Amino acid sequence: MHSCSGSPRRALLRAALGAGVFLCAPRYAAAQAENPRMQRPQAGDRFVFAGFERIGHVITPGDVPAGKPPLLAYPIDPSSRVVRDGSRLNQVLLVRLAVEELDEDTRARSADGVVAYSGVCTHTGCDVTVWQAETRRFRCPCHESEFDPRDRGRVVGGPAPRRLPQLPVKVVDGVIVADGAFIGRPGFQPG
Ligand code: FES
Repeated sequence: MHSCSGSPRRALLRAALGAGVFLCAPRYAAAQAENPRMQRPQAGDRFVFAGFERIGHVITPGDVPAGKPPLLAYPIDPSSRVVRDGSRLNQVLLVRLAVEELDEDTRARSADGVVAYSGVCTHTGCDVTVWQAETRRFRCPCHESEFDPRDRGRVVGGPAPRRLPQLPVKVVDGVIVADGAFIGRPGFQPG
């Protein structure tokens, strides 16, 4: 039986692993509120590469070309320069799609065809790491849930109970910027 007891450090570790959302929600919420690295993406945030050789560089529309797989990114507060990489629930997938293929709501939250989604599956919280180029769908490798980024992250296969949360974006001064918070809560939610 899990509980919320234990050192703050261990609690934060659990939170960082995502399990803390379920096991220690009050403590996690407090840590999230205090720590800008753990706060969810906010309007005005930029994005930086989360991996590979360009880690930490601010992402421009040109970094998200058509026909390429999604980029994994983290939000960054442009004022404090704090990268919000203290929670994997802040992982964002950026991909460019044909504007005419996007449904109305998805298009309204996109920037020249660039859409942004949570990178964490709504089933049991695995990273959504597979891009199916032919169908232009995200797929979670754990239990094969599929999500349609052209239609607000709709579940089109597998056991995921909810859409992949979309993050509205726009282009400001030549960089991609969050235009609000996630539409829905990222990650899985206990029933
Ligand atoms: S965690 Fe993604 S399909 Fe199960």
